[in-house]
Formats: sequence, C-alpha cells, structure tokens
Amino acid sequence: MKNVNILEIKTVKDEKRGDLLFFEAERDIPFLIKRFYCLYNVDEYAIRGYHAHKSLKQFMFCPYGEVEIYLTNGFEEEQIRLTEASIGIIIEEGIWREIKFIKENSVLCVAASEYYNEDDYIRDYKQFIEFTNGKYNEGKK
Ligand code: TYD
Repeated sequence: MKNVNILEIKTVKDEKRGDLLFFEAERDIPFLIKRFYCLYNVDEYAIRGYHAHKSLKQFMFCPYGEVEIYLTNGFEEEQIRLTEASIGIIIEEGIWREIKFIKENSVLCVAASEYYNEDDYIRDYKQFIEFTNGKYNEGKK
C-alpha cells in the first residue's frame, strides 16, 4: 500500500562479537530524523496506536520481541509482523495503525520526521476516514 514500505535494515553480522544494525536519514529512510522514541514494558497482547498522522513520517523496528502492526489507509489494509530486529517499516502520512505486542518485553523503536505535535494526530477513526476520503477525492479530480 502507498506510504507503507518494509525496509530490510543494513546489518553487520559478527558471529563472535554480535550483530550491528544501522540506518541513515535521507539515505536508508526517506526523511531527516527529528525525534526517536521507544515503546517498552508493554503487556503481552496489549495494543497501542489507534491513530494516524496527518503529515508525520516514521520508521519503526522491533529490536527485541515481536509486534504485529495493522495498517490501513481507509481503503486497503495490511498486517505486518516484525519478528526480527533487522526488519522495519517506513510508515508515511495518512496511515491508521494498531500495534499489538505479541511477546512479553517486546520493544518497538520509532524514528520520526518531526517533533512531537498532538495537532498532527488523528485519534478518531471516523475523523480518519473523513481525512482519507478528502484525499481520495482530491486525487480523483
Ligand atoms: P501516543 O503517541 O499517543 O502513543 P499510543 O498511541 O501508543 O498510546 O503517546 C502516548 C503519550 O505520550 C501521549 O500522551 C503523548 C506522549 N508522547 C510525547 O510526549 N512525545 C512523544 O514523542 C510521543 C510519541 C508521545
């Protein structure tokens, strides 16, 4: 779906010393990073998210544990499971997300294109559908 892309994160594997993953702003992910945050200490099977962003772009990966992310643009939907540290998702604007923590102590790390701004959130699904319908109709003109 547009605005959702899986990214295989670059890794340097080292059997003796352990693995390393890295990504670079504007090279591996399509924006500059202004903010980084993590979700952790989340109960098993708890669901977070239930919102979309009007313009924020994010890159998410799960360095420990497993999460399942349900995504929709209001027309199409997709479910993506992050089961290993080196697989991430780039989620750009206008995507509703629900993030289920499958394993205890899973960690979700998020790199974001903007500082925290509550005005960029759409937390009501009906409002989200109005927002995406607006976009869809504009696109069809
Ligand atoms: P929120 O993004 O709503 O998380 P979720 O949708 O998973 O519940 O964030 C939870 C709270 O944390 C909310 O009150 C806003 C605050 N917050 C910040 O202050 N800065 C941040 O960068 C983020 C992501 C959240």
